[in-house]
Amino acid sequence: MDTFEAIRTRRAIRAYDPTYRLEETELTTLLHAARHAPSAFNIQHCRYVVVKDPALRAELRKVAWDQAQVTDASVLVVVCADMAAWKKDPARYFNGAPTEVQAQMAGMIRDYYLGREQVQRDETMRSAGLAAQTLMLAATARGYQTCPMDGFDYDAVGKLINLPHDHVVAMFVVIGRATQDALPRVGALPDAEVILTDRFPS
Ligand SMILES: Cc1cc2nc3c(=O)[nH]c(=O)nc-3n(C[C@H](O)[C@H](O)[C@H](O)COP(=O)(O)O)c2cc1C
Repeated sequence: MDTFEAIRTRRAIRAYDPTYRLEETELTTLLHAARHAPSAFNIQHCRYVVVKDPALRAELRKVAWDQAQVTDASVLVVVCADMAAWKKDPARYFNGAPTEVQAQMAGMIRDYYLGREQVQRDETMRSAGLAAQTLMLAATARGYQTCPMDGFDYDAVGKLINLPHDHVVAMFVVIGRATQDALPRVGALPDAEVILTDRFPS
C-alpha cells in the first residue's frame, strides 16, 4: 500500500474481532515504524505502553466510557510521553554523533526547555501525536484497522498503568481486525476555511 492510500483509507474503527490476535512480530514492526516518527530535538519522548493483561484492559475500558475497542481490539497502546526527558542525560539523544555535537545539542535542549513548563508539555504532545499517527498509518499499510482515542479519564488511566509523575498520557491507539466498516466520511469543512495563505484574515 502506498502512503497516500494508507492516509486515505485509515479510519477510526470502533468494532473489532475480539478473537483476532496480531502476531507479536507484527506488533514489533509497527512499534518500530512509530519510532521513526520525528520528535523535537530527537528526544524521543514517547513511551508506548502495550497493555496485554486482559484484566487491566477491562479496568481501562471502565474508565474509557465503556468503549468496546479498549478490550476488543487485538492491541491497545497507551501512548505516553516523558515531559522531563529533556533533562535526562540529553547528550544520549545524539549518541553516535561527535562528542562536541552531543555537548552542543544537550546545551541547546537545556536552554530551550529550562523553566518552560508549558513548552515541556506541548513538545511531548506534538511528538506523541506524530508518533500515534505514524503507528496508525503503519498498521493501515499492513492491513489492520485502528482508532485513536482520548475518551477516557486521564487520571484513572495514569493510576492503572503506574504512570510516572513526570510523564503524561497522550492517547490510546487500538489496532486490530474490524468487524464493521467505518461509515462514510462526513462533515468535511471547505478547503477555504482550513487552508490559508500567508495569514488569517484580519
Ligand atoms: C485525539 C483524538 C481522540 C479521539 N478519541 C476517540 C475516542 O475516544 N473514541 C472514538 O471512537 N474515536 C475517537 N477519535 C476518533 C475521531 O472521532 C475520528 O478520528 C474522527 O471522527 C474522524 O474520523 P476518521 O478518523 O475515520 O476519519 C479520536 C480522534 C482523535 C484525533
